[in-house]
Formats: sequence, C-alpha cells, structure tokens
Amino acid sequence: MRPIDKRFPNIFVDYKNRLFTKNMLKRVSHFDENIVIEKGIAYREWEPRRSKLGAALIKKISQIGLKEGNVVLYLGASHGYTPSFVSDIVGKGGFIFALEFSPESARDLVHICEQRSNMAPVIANANYPEEYKDKVVLQADVVYQDIAQKNQVEIFMKNCNTYLKSGGFGLLAIKARSIDVTRRPSDIFREVRIELEKHIAIVDYKELNPYEKDHAFFVCKKR
Ligand SMILES: C[S@@+](CC[C@H](N)C(=O)[O-])C[C@H]1O[C@@H](n2cnc3c(N)ncnc32)[C@H](O)[C@@H]1O
Repeated sequence: MRPIDKRFPNIFVDYKNRLFTKNMLKRVSHFDENIVIEKGIAYREWEPRRSKLGAALIKKISQIGLKEGNVVLYLGASHGYTPSFVSDIVGKGGFIFALEFSPESARDLVHICEQRSNMAPVIANANYPEEYKDKVVLQADVVYQDIAQKNQVEIFMKNCNTYLKSGGFGLLAIKARSIDVTRRPSDIFREVRIELEKHIAIVDYKELNPYEKDHAFFVCKKR
C-alpha cells in the first residue's frame, strides 16, 4: 500500500491501483468493503464505481481540498458510502455534517454516524440552507454536493454562500441527465462551468465516465 499522492492525505492505492483509506474503525466495514491489514494498519477499499469522489481520484483530479481536521458539509449523503471515506480522510479531528432528505436512505447513514465519532446526520432539504443553521453549527472548510436535482448548481451555490469559509473548497458532482435528459451532457457541463464561474473559482474538472456515465466532478474554491 502506498499514498496515492502527497496532495491527498490518508488516501492510498495498492499494487493493482485499487483505492483505499486508512480505516478509522480498524476492521469494521459498513458495506462489506474489503479490509486489508498491512503492518498493523487497516485499510478499507473504496470502490470508484460507487463514489463520484473515488472516480474523480482514479481519473487523476489534481486537487480535492480535503485534509485531516477539516469540517465538511456533505449534501446528498444517502446511505453514507462516500461520506464514510470522507470521514476516514478528515480523521478524528475533523467533522462531517452529513445531510440527506430521504428518511429511508438516512437509516443506514444514522447507523454509520453512530459508529463514527466525526459524523453527524442532518435530515433536511439542501434547497433551504437557512433551515438547518441550528444543526450545521460550524463554517465548513469543504462543501461537498452529490444531489441529482435539476437545480444542482443553485443548491450548491446557496450552501457555499451560507456555510463555506472564504478560501474553502466546494466539490460538486453533476449528473447531466437530472438537469436535462434530452441534451448532450458535454453541453450541460459547459453551461454548468459558465454558471459556476460567475460565483466561484474552478480549480479542476473531470468527466467521470466510465465509472459514472454522464457525470462530471467540479473542484471549486471560494474567493
Ligand atoms: C447519488 S445519491 C448520493 C450518493 C452519496 N453521495 C455517495 O456517494 O455515497 C443522491 C442523494 O441525494 C439525496 N437528495 C436529493 N435531493 C436532495 C435535497 N434537496 N436535499 C437533500 N438530499 C437530497 C437523495 O435522496 C440521494 O440519497
């Protein structure tokens, strides 16, 4: 096992270029992930076909902004798959507000948050950032969004404006088909870029095929 790159603390790859994080919970896995023990350290396998952040890393995104000790607002936490890896990356000194509006998905998420001391579930609609100010009580170093809604960019900007620190990173996974199923994804990604650039700096961008078809991942930085 070796670090994937010094820009990405706590993320590793093995000899087959499979992605791992150092598991905060040692031998515990949440989704039957493969656990590999090397020199007494437990690494948990991170499947890029289940995670847009994982796919962006395998596709060699140049920056993700996440590091140990970060506070993260994670929008669209679902069952908690990618959030659990973000939890490993930020470590015990960091914290993740894991927001999800579907009570069914949130059941698994709540269970993971009970096991991971650096995660708390927030059951709320990301469209209304003012409504969870009593729960998301810290400004975030990173706002991460993976929400398949028509107004994905608007939701992202509202949350970055409310919760992201100046100089903080915004990570946005875009699902083209949720914005407009009739148009070419590449046209939609271009329009998303133009819209984002009005408000926030874009650091990098990757399309995620073949891991996630018709998805793109934007890394942004608040001025
Ligand atoms: C693609 S899934 C997220 C997968 C997750 N990020 C991962 O990688 O493990 C998108 C999630 O966004 C949630 N979602 C959609 N619209 C939302 C909204 N307005 N507010 C909060 N969550 C929302 C859905 O319920 C769904 O669970």
